[in-house]
Amino acid sequence: MLDFAIDLAYRAGTLIRAGAERDVSYEPKQYADVVTEVDRASEALIVGAIRARYPDHAIIAEEGSGVSMSSPYTWLIDPLDGTLNFLHGLPIFCVSIALLAYNEPLLGVVYDPMRNELFYAERGRGAFLNGRRLRVSQTPTLARSLLSSGLPYDRFEQPDNNLAELTHLAMLVQDIRRPGSAALDLCAVAAGRTDGHWELGLKPWDVGAGGLIALEAGATVTDWQGEPWRPLGGDRLVATNGLIHAELLAALAEVRRQRSLKLS
Ligand code: IPD
Ligand code: CA
Ligand code: CA
Repeated sequence: MLDFAIDLAYRAGTLIRAGAERDVSYEPKQYADVVTEVDRASEALIVGAIRARYPDHAIIAEEGSGVSMSSPYTWLIDPLDGTLNFLHGLPIFCVSIALLAYNEPLLGVVYDPMRNELFYAERGRGAFLNGRRLRVSQTPTLARSLLSSGLPYDRFEQPDNNLAELTHLAMLVQDIRRPGSAALDLCAVAAGRTDGHWELGLKPWDVGAGGLIALEAGATVTDWQGEPWRPLGGDRLVATNGLIHAELLAALAEVRRQRSLKLS
């Protein structure tokens, strides 16, 4: 099934790369979110292939062409993660494919077609980038860390929108990036390119594959309370090299504490 998922990621990536070289049509979804014809074409390719090969598997896919059924196996598909980057011509986007068995991650594949970087992992078998084993960084403290994060699409009307956390953490770390593809952000933690990522407002397809790739590279992946990450669990995630995890969770808790003091 890993070979099948890798082949699909390459095929979808080829379609996305071709789309990046021409004008594509798009429509607004909600808030700042958009969907392009390439998101839809990539999803149709992936979902069509899974349905043909594994007709008894469930599929959760971002653009709505999934199939719900009772099955031990569920695929999580983000046909194009980083759509706004794609639309603006900023080459930070990917396709993300994960497979769960009994709701636990079994395999994950993230392909960045612009850098030809294929990240993949199978549970218990390590994480790889183009065949090379991945390990998280060794950065020992938050103060020396390069982190990444994200901003939710509904931030305009949702006051709990990560802006306070970004402001607080900006003064505690070496620096923060907002690359715009949660799947690639988690792969960057796995590859030791960044030391940690935190975000809220995430969906299972954003993090299904990247979460497993990070875990298999030795990352600690939890929710904001420190509970183990579950792909179909809540929308908040923290992934780090492990060494800075407690410090990052404490910083997020401090913002929560300050917010509740203000509200009371
Ligand atoms: C988005 C990206 C972004 C994250 C958003 C996601 P999309 O996915 O992963 O980095 O901050 O929460 O929705 O819409 O480009 O597939
Ligand atoms: Ca996404
Ligand atoms: Ca997407």
